[in-house]
Amino acid sequence: MIIARSVNELQDAIARRNGSIGFVPTMGALHIGHRSLIDAARRENDTVVVSIFINPTQFLPGEDFSKYPRKEEADFKICEISGVDILFYPDVKAMYGEDEVRICAPDSRGYILEGASRPGHFDGVLTVVMKLFNQVRPTRAYFGKKDAQQLTLITQMVKNFFMNVEIIPMDTVREGDGLALSSRNVYLDPQERVEALKISASLKRATEQVMQGNLNSESIRQKMAAVLEPLDVEYIAIVNRFFESIDEVILGNTIILVAARVGTTRLIDNVWM
Ligand code: PAF
Repeated sequence: MIIARSVNELQDAIARRNGSIGFVPTMGALHIGHRSLIDAARRENDTVVVSIFINPTQFLPGEDFSKYPRKEEADFKICEISGVDILFYPDVKAMYGEDEVRICAPDSRGYILEGASRPGHFDGVLTVVMKLFNQVRPTRAYFGKKDAQQLTLITQMVKNFFMNVEIIPMDTVREGDGLALSSRNVYLDPQERVEALKISASLKRATEQVMQGNLNSESIRQKMAAVLEPLDVEYIAIVNRFFESIDEVILGNTIILVAARVGTTRLIDNVWM
């Protein structure tokens, strides 16, 4: 595995490869969820590139940028054993200059839900993903459905900017008890980890409701809220694939999302139906 720390090193390494490139952009603290993205990239491409870059522009002032988990040694090992060909591990200077042009997320999808709680977050995500795509020039890029809004906005950016990359959505990976894997789970103490299960339980309740024929969004939201008690819930949303709020679940075109704080840790999860 080649570890590239600058854009030149990355592009030299890529120039030596032939065929398709599967790309998995990450912020490190890799877990089984990332492994599933890397495995899919490995299966479907000639070369696998993973980036590890904790992108400062997607954190708001006061968020966890400085304490975001950093696990260089373990991450490198995971990439190595997963068959990654090139690991791109730039520092902030390799990625950003002064007073740069930025990508802005659209108001309709970029400043609601996650974007309302974290205004400007998606501008930072889209900007860094645009940079990474231009550096790596992947054939396919792999993103988890857990970050549903991010996935939708990246797909829209690729379309709007006529970018030549296929976005591959990957299912959320969960612990045996339902907790969605997230790098932020390390912040949870054992008691909070138990509390956090209410999030996936609320989505399970929503799925059961739909299976029993209750498609009414308000009624489903209320049932989910009861399961989430007494967590500090930021939002429960029922939207279509374009992130427009819908009054009734439409099978094949609905995402139900939750964001809640468990202690000081903010967690998100969702179910696609
Ligand atoms: O999902 C993430 O880990 C990040 O938002 C991403 C896509 C790597 C951009 O920094």
